[in-house]
Amino acid sequence: MENSEFQPFYQLNNSDTSVLVDCRQRLPVIFYVGPRLEHFDVANLALLDRHEAPASVPAEPSIALLPDITSGWLGHPGIAVRRGLQGWQLHCVLQRVTQSQCDGLVLTATCAATQVSVLYELALPTAGDALSIAVSVVNDSSSEMLSLDECNLTLPIPDHFSDFTDFSGRWGLEFQSRTQSLQQVAYSRENRTGRTSHSGSASVVVHEERLSATHGHTFSCHLAWSGNHCLRVEQLVDGRRYLQLGELLAPEEIVLSPGTAYSAPVVWCCFSAGGLTGLSRCWHRLIRAQFPTVAKLQQKPRLVQINTWEGHYFDVNESKLLGLIDQAAQLGVERFVLDDGWFCGRNDDKSSLGDWWADTKKLPRGLTPLVEACSRNEMEFGLWVEPEMVSPDSDLYRSHPDWILSHESAPQLLARHQLVLDLARPEVEAYIFDSLSTLLSQHPIRYLKWDMNRDIHQAGNALGHPAVSGQTRALYRLLNRVKTAFPEVEIEGCASGGGRVDCGVLNYVSRFWPSDTNDALDRLSVQRGFSLFYPPELMGCHIGPETCHLTGRQHDLTFRAGVAFWGHLGIEMDITTLSDHDRATMMLLIELYKNHRQLLHSGQPQRLDRPKEEMGWGVVSTAQEEGLFGHAQLMSALRPFPVRYRFQGLDKSAHYRVQCIWPPIDSEFLNDHVASLQEQKLSGDVLMQLGIALPIRKPESVLIYYLSKA
Ligand code: GLA
Repeated sequence: MENSEFQPFYQLNNSDTSVLVDCRQRLPVIFYVGPRLEHFDVANLALLDRHEAPASVPAEPSIALLPDITSGWLGHPGIAVRRGLQGWQLHCVLQRVTQSQCDGLVLTATCAATQVSVLYELALPTAGDALSIAVSVVNDSSSEMLSLDECNLTLPIPDHFSDFTDFSGRWGLEFQSRTQSLQQVAYSRENRTGRTSHSGSASVVVHEERLSATHGHTFSCHLAWSGNHCLRVEQLVDGRRYLQLGELLAPEEIVLSPGTAYSAPVVWCCFSAGGLTGLSRCWHRLIRAQFPTVAKLQQKPRLVQINTWEGHYFDVNESKLLGLIDQAAQLGVERFVLDDGWFCGRNDDKSSLGDWWADTKKLPRGLTPLVEACSRNEMEFGLWVEPEMVSPDSDLYRSHPDWILSHESAPQLLARHQLVLDLARPEVEAYIFDSLSTLLSQHPIRYLKWDMNRDIHQAGNALGHPAVSGQTRALYRLLNRVKTAFPEVEIEGCASGGGRVDCGVLNYVSRFWPSDTNDALDRLSVQRGFSLFYPPELMGCHIGPETCHLTGRQHDLTFRAGVAFWGHLGIEMDITTLSDHDRATMMLLIELYKNHRQLLHSGQPQRLDRPKEEMGWGVVSTAQEEGLFGHAQLMSALRPFPVRYRFQGLDKSAHYRVQCIWPPIDSEFLNDHVASLQEQKLSGDVLMQLGIALPIRKPESVLIYYLSKA
């Protein structure tokens, strides 16, 4: 032990969780994250440490938070620095450890030879059981630059875990979970899209083999970052496994001047000893407690909104929009969001990004009549923008063709006919801020849908340097500036659907658009993946057109509405074409959502295990007074009678009234079911252990139950 003045272990506790940090070697190691340990004693260590392995070094290099090569670490480097061709043999030694209360730990390690310090800040806040790990790397030299090539937080995977799950996907079908066993190979994902990506953020769940909705130990980590990143899961030859998350840096992307520091994106870690429901609860609790944008949502109901995109695309104008606002208000809609197509010359996706003023042909009197119509109807007004982008066919580009990211040596690569602005340039940031500020101060706009519709393929700035890291930080600064100047404006984060969903951008946005698909069947799997981490008040869910524009599949309104009910409700279809029957159904759903949104947006998530042709989920209030549960029949049932529906998370000794509140009208099977439920009060333990018989369901249909203590 090189640091005899330190305690060998530090323990962080909150009410349910303990974290043990091993400081016996020269770098800190996360030794344990899990259920609270009351009686851990350093004397136990002799029984916990591995014995010397044959044909190995006497003490194997520990899986430190930032393993360096000088420890003999043979996995992927946690940290790699250089001063030209020198200074790469980093050998940091822990110098100081400060524990604040029982929930925070600050550790400093330095390397005298290379003149580098690393600061680790660990926190286990009382509100939420999640551990946060923040790391900064400081160039201590007074004269020399320091290149940082890698900074990947590294955590050991508990040795009884055998599998891991991460998320993949594509545009229109994000958040698809995928489970694999931990093999004796490295699994590595590198995202270079310049945004979080449709195939997922750097998030991973490691777990026991038999993980179900309610059983099994699991541990999950997420990198709070919206730019390039890497995720790695590896089994070393000695059998130990680790996971690693970090910003993916291009050569010379981070060069620190003397005395400056690089702050790595924060890593959040949650664990559960109660399967995926427990894990989801941990993430939702963390996000509600630690992110002011989300905590604030508890103060105001999530307004039902209509978004003009799939109903009207670019075909918007004043008279049409005024008619829509009135019709939407009659349905019970509370916020009108004008999507793409409203600004100067924007008739398709080939022009105008950057020219953020109202199109004079479509909106000759500007946004004012629309905003006024909304306030007459007691609705909020929201607006779509895509501030990070510019169209080559725009006034902005014609005036400032040099404001973009590009590779000098190569022709420009357009995607969706657009280019990416270099946000880190002060004049670009000023232009965007001023454009948004003009819109937001001229009109009482309470909501911005902030979109980002392309990958950053050619991420070079005017100096020819790699730009994604700086671009991501500049985006956060810009969002922060807008939020600070207009605190009453809510921002929805969108990147062609779910291309930028992560806890980095969540510091500034209070709703995500998880996917461009409004296909209710596909949405069920998108929502299932999304909701493992994020609570429903953040999950934009829209009732789309009867024929889904992305898949061509047709669904009736009861299914589309019953799926959209589960997040922050919106409508994204042409409501002027609704039949009287569908109009009445839509109004019923909106009313139902308004009656239950408080519970939906504050309760504890439940994930139910169902046969593979079904899906089950729910939300139960913290005091277990009431709950909402969903059941979806995804495809034709394999057996004539469905498996009984076993509820979860209820007070086992209380009695509940169970009502089937959706769909409003269905087959005779459902009507009998609704009637028989009306006569009963059932105890929580019966509902959870025995469950209730489900009516026979057609494929692509959904049921919603409301339970209240009798
Ligand atoms: C992206 C978004 C859509 C819509 C369009 C507008 O694709 O994900 O919801 O706003 O842009 O161009």
